[in-house]
Formats: sequence, C-alpha cells, structure tokens
Amino acid sequence: MTAHYEVQGDIAIITLNNPPVNGLGLSTRQGIADGMAQANANPAVAAIVITGAGKAFSGGADIKEFGSPKAMQEPNLNSVIGVLENSSKPVIAAIHTVVMGGGLELALGAHYRVVAPGTSVALPEVKLGLLPGAGGTQRLPRVLGVEPALNMIVSGEPIKAEMLAMLPGQKLFDKVAASAESLAEEALAFARSVASVRPLPLVRDLKCKHPQGDAYFQFARNMVKGMSKHFPAPAKCVDAVEAATKKKFDEGMAVEREIFINLMWTAESKSLRHLFLAERAASKIADVPSDTALRAINSVAVIGAGTMGGGIAMNFLNAGIPVKMLEMKQEALDRGIATIRKNYEAQVKKGKLKQDKYDQRMGLLSTTLSYDELTGTDMVIEAVFEEIGVKEAVFKELDRVMKPGAILASNTSTLDVNKIASFTKRPEDVVGLHFFSPANVMKLLEVVRGEKTAIDVMATVMSVAKKIRKTAVVSGVCDGFIGNRMIEQYGRQGGFLLDEGCTPAQVDRAIEKFGFAMGPFRMGDLAGNDIGWAIRKRRYTEQPDMKYSKTADLLCEKGRFGQKTGAGWYDYVPGKRDAIPNAEVEAMIAAHRESLGITARKISDEEIVQRLVFSLVNEAAHILEEGIAAKASDIDIVYIFGYGFPAHRGGPMNYADQVGLFNVVQAMHRFAQNPLDDAKFWQPAPLLARLAAEGKTFN
Ligand code: NAI
Repeated sequence: MTAHYEVQGDIAIITLNNPPVNGLGLSTRQGIADGMAQANANPAVAAIVITGAGKAFSGGADIKEFGSPKAMQEPNLNSVIGVLENSSKPVIAAIHTVVMGGGLELALGAHYRVVAPGTSVALPEVKLGLLPGAGGTQRLPRVLGVEPALNMIVSGEPIKAEMLAMLPGQKLFDKVAASAESLAEEALAFARSVASVRPLPLVRDLKCKHPQGDAYFQFARNMVKGMSKHFPAPAKCVDAVEAATKKKFDEGMAVEREIFINLMWTAESKSLRHLFLAERAASKIADVPSDTALRAINSVAVIGAGTMGGGIAMNFLNAGIPVKMLEMKQEALDRGIATIRKNYEAQVKKGKLKQDKYDQRMGLLSTTLSYDELTGTDMVIEAVFEEIGVKEAVFKELDRVMKPGAILASNTSTLDVNKIASFTKRPEDVVGLHFFSPANVMKLLEVVRGEKTAIDVMATVMSVAKKIRKTAVVSGVCDGFIGNRMIEQYGRQGGFLLDEGCTPAQVDRAIEKFGFAMGPFRMGDLAGNDIGWAIRKRRYTEQPDMKYSKTADLLCEKGRFGQKTGAGWYDYVPGKRDAIPNAEVEAMIAAHRESLGITARKISDEEIVQRLVFSLVNEAAHILEEGIAAKASDIDIVYIFGYGFPAHRGGPMNYADQVGLFNVVQAMHRFAQNPLDDAKFWQPAPLLARLAAEGKTFN
C-alpha cells in the first residue's frame, strides 16, 4: 500500500507515500479509499487530514501507469475524489512542496485546504496535449475565478501557493501555514476547528460565472490561437472551462470527460506523452547501474575559446561550476572571454540576469595559456579545431597533466572518439560530449561512448548533463553520431528536390508547414553552408559513389555561406534573420538543372515532406540496428531537442510509427524508382523492413 493511515487523537491522517512525488497510482488511490473508509467507520475520528510524505503532496498521475489500463482501474481518481466529497466527516488537504495535476484535483475534492508557503501549484496536463481529466477544469474556476483558473489550465505553468492565496475572493486555500515545518501542526489544529461544521462545504457547489461571458471566452480563444497552431488541447481547455460557467456541475464534468478522452486519442497528445517518457528513458543506460558511484566534478577546463568553447563554458558557469579556459594565444582568450561577457551583458540588459548573478558567473571564469595549470581540474572539455592532428596534440598534453581519474571529453562533431582516446594512456577516461551550437542555448547533448569509456565516466557525464540542464542522449561512435549522420541524408534529399524542380523556399515552406522550426535551406544559412561543403569534399574522396546534388557546392563557390556572409540560399539584411529569396540563386539552380538535362516538375508538399522525413527514418533505422542508438526514443529526443523536429509529431521514429511502417516502406519503394534520386539509399534498412513486415513499430 502506498498510502499510510494513522489516527492522532480524534484526527485520522492519510499520508500518500509513493516516491518520488506521490503519484496517484492504483495502490495509492486504493490506500486513500481504504483510509477514508476506516476513518468514516471509526466513531473516535472527528476529521480527516490528507497529506503527502517526502517531496510532494502529489505530483499527479503515476507515470508508471501512463497509457496502461491500470490508470483507469477503480478506484480511479474521479471515484477517489467522490469518496472525499461524500465523506460524512470533514476532509482537510494539508498541501506542501508540489501539488500538480491529479494531486491538485484530489485536493479540490477535500472540504478544506491548508497549504505550506512555497508550494508549486499547477495543472500541467496541457503540456501532454491533454486537459485535467478529474474535475480540474470544473473545480479550479469555482475556487479561483474563471480567468486565473483558465490561465493556469492553458499554460500548465506552476504558480506559488502564496500568489494564488492573494487573489481576491479565492477559495482554493482556506489557510496558508506560517512555514513548511508548521504545516502538519497547523493542519491538525485547523481540522479540529472545523470538525463539527455541517453541512460540509463542497467546491462543486460554488458558483462559476464570468461577468463578460461569451465575450470573454471569445477573447480567450483568440489568446490561445498561437499556442493551438499544432495542438488541439489549449482551445479544448477553453471549451471545458466555458462549460463550467454555463452548465450544471455534473454536465460540465461530462463535457470535460468527453474532451479528455478525445484528446487522449489525438496524435499530438500521444506524441507529447511519448516524448515525456522518452526524455526520462534517455537518461538511463542499460549497462550503467543507477547506483554507480560518480566521480566528483567540481571544476572544469575548456580547451579552445572559440564558438563552441565559450558556449560550453557558460553552461558550467550558469550551474555554479568554476571554469578555466585554455588557448594558444592571449588574444584568443581575450576574444573568447569578451564574447561570454557580451552574452551575459545582453541577458542583464534584457532583465533576464541579475547583476549579482552576472558578477558571480564571471567570477567563476579564469584563463590560462599553460596546460600545467589544469592539473587539479576534475573534467576537461576540448573544443579546438576539427583536425585530428590538433586533437592528438591536445589529448597528449591532457594525458600528461590531468590528475588520475579526471574525465577527458572532446566536443568533436565528426572525428573518431576511439581514435582520440587512443592518443592517451587512459582511454577509459575519454568520452565525447557533443554540444550543439549555440552551446549555451541548445538543450541537446550527445554523449559519445567510446569502446573503452568507463561505466562510471558514463554515469558521471550523464549526471553532469542534468546539472547543466542538458538533455543527454548516448550515441555510439560513428561518423556524425546520431543527429548529424541522419541530417546528411535529409540534406541530400533537399539537394535532389532542387535539381528536380523545387526552389529552396518551396522546400522550406513545405517542411515548416509540417512543423519543423526551420527548413533545410534556412537552417543551412544559419549554420553556415561551408560546413556541409567541407563534409561533402571529404565524402567525394572517401565515398566516391555517394550521390549528391551539386547545387550546394555551386552556392558555396559563390561565397554564399549563409547569414554570416549576408547571403546564402537567401539574402539577409544585416542584423536581421528574415530569409529573402534571391532570383540569382533560383536562376543558378535552374541553370544547373538544365545542364543535367532535367525538366522541372511540380513536386507536391507531401512528397517534399515524405522524402525529407523518411530519409531521416531510414538512416535512423540503420543507426538503431548498428547499436549506435540504444533506443528509437533516443533518436526522437535527439531530433526534437537538437534539430527542431516538431514536438507534436513526437520525433521521426514516433512519426513513422504513427504513419505506419508499412506505409513508410511503400513510400521508400516509390522514391527508389525515381532515377534522379538515390535508389540504393531508399532500400529500407533491414530493421525497418522487418518491423514493417511484422506489423510492428520502432517505439
Ligand atoms: P572555432 O574555430 O570557433 O574555435 C576553436 C578554438 O580553438 C579557436 O579559438 C582556436 O584558437 C582554438 N585552438 C585551436 N587549436 C588549439 C590548441 N591546440 N590549443 C588550444 N586552443 C586551440 O571552432 P568551433 O566551431 O568552436 O569548433 C570547435 C570544436 O567543436 C570542433 O571540434 C567542432 O567540430 C566542434 N563542434 C562545432 C560545432 C559548431 O556548430 N561550430 C557544433 C558541435 C561541435
């Protein structure tokens, strides 16, 4: 049983005890119902206090029950709330730390609520493409007022209890305790003070009206339009709250129920729930036990103060970890530090960073030109030029000076981490930490596990990633790791589409309509077209039979590297990021097409999207089969957090599962018949072919 029952004097206390956040799983719900039955049957009990053990009152649904029939099994949450409401003795929720989702809905079933200051209060269901399904949309407006309740339900964001307690006329909290420590005592005293009150107050009996009625809800619908572009849930939250104001309580509950069930079945909600679980799963590595002893990381060195080095350093400074940066020349150090300072100053100017925090962070940053000054550092991250010879020299130095047990990481984006490890006499301490640019902003971190990387190094870097607020995904060693290896295929398809008749704007528009933050050509302009050019030049010698469109090379030959040169696939006005189509580029593409003897054809948005997305899927299936990625869901996380894949599609693998792998394979067979495409590439990866034939999915 994950709820504990006891009687103190004339008060029964039911304590939810389902770590880490007292999720309302079946056994907890059963425990509450049993406790309520005992308390009501015991004549010595005058009132009942419900509270939570440990770090929460309750965080809501138990994620272990996500999508399983257990979540609905009786007593389900609505039934338990009914038990509270129908109790013949007063029920007092003693709330602290976190009250979210189903936890808040449960508390709204109690007759009274006493809360500790500092408690985070939220109905976050909208973030999973849902709405609160156990009366939250009907009861919260009754206690808070329609507008504040709707704002909370539509945003899903937590608000501190004391802020809510200040709302005029609010009935969410009957009392705010003086402190978290005194909550238990104050809740007991409160329970005694209301023990003989009859009839008992019920949230469902409160009135719920908005003075402007229809006009307000029209306004609310306009407000959520932006949020609702790819997601049905926010607009549905408005519908449910409107029902609370216009219908009897039970009818409103029926509206909420129907909407909830419909949302559960939407692809968008399924995708968001998939990502929620996928992100948690990504932090677990099958052969790294969760109790692995971690190496202490209290100081970090960064080698190279360029684009990546500066951003990487900021992550650690933000987390309060001192950073020492090393460069070959003082000027390079000065430049690097100036960039970091400028970044922080911009945040101060925008009011996003307080001056004292700025001082604190800059105070944690030091510089050196000498490797000998790195001796005491716990971890070093190398971000020097992407040349194996340069990396060799750096790692030999690191091997010489770093203390035993220090972690030696490389931010290489293409080089062989095993080879880099072999430059040292301690390959077990070497790991790849592939940050994405801008490294202080992008959430994704690919942790590249070398053949010899030690288990505790893996456990430590995963924990460090959490500390610096990155979403880490483990990748094996291969060219491009997970993300860049896939994006190369996507880029190749983009090139073929130009050769066959598209303009860059048409391709970008189609995939952005699908939901990508940016199409391949706008992205190329942002990242720098010269990066892809350098990779292709290498491929032309290493893999001469790999087919590429030559348009991107022609573009680079014109010096159109993208935003940094003011011109790429598009033109850019200095200081702005708007992509302006350029007639010369389009003429260049047309001329190249003509030189190949290709007649332009009209290509549908559907074909553009399928070729781009399924190219990711096919390469990903190879990656999965080779064990470079451990789970399909890891690949989804890489693409969501590193490449702007639309969250409502849940990542490329989840999207392919939703389309149906049989259909994906059929499309690939069609693409293979296009003589201007790459028939060999479109042979479905064996894993994909097998899953499709067996009617299975990746995830
Ligand atoms: P960058 O050219 O901006 O910076 C490299 C810095 O390293 C320069 O400041 C240079 O003076 C310094 N440096 C070179 N050799 C050195 C040595 N022997 N000792 C000390 N410092 C040295 O390059 P960027 O873009 O920061 O890339 C660095 C690494 O990060 C590369 O391995 C790259 O592949 C990787 N990377 C780059 C990404 C990007 O978008 N720029 C994304 C992910 C990884």
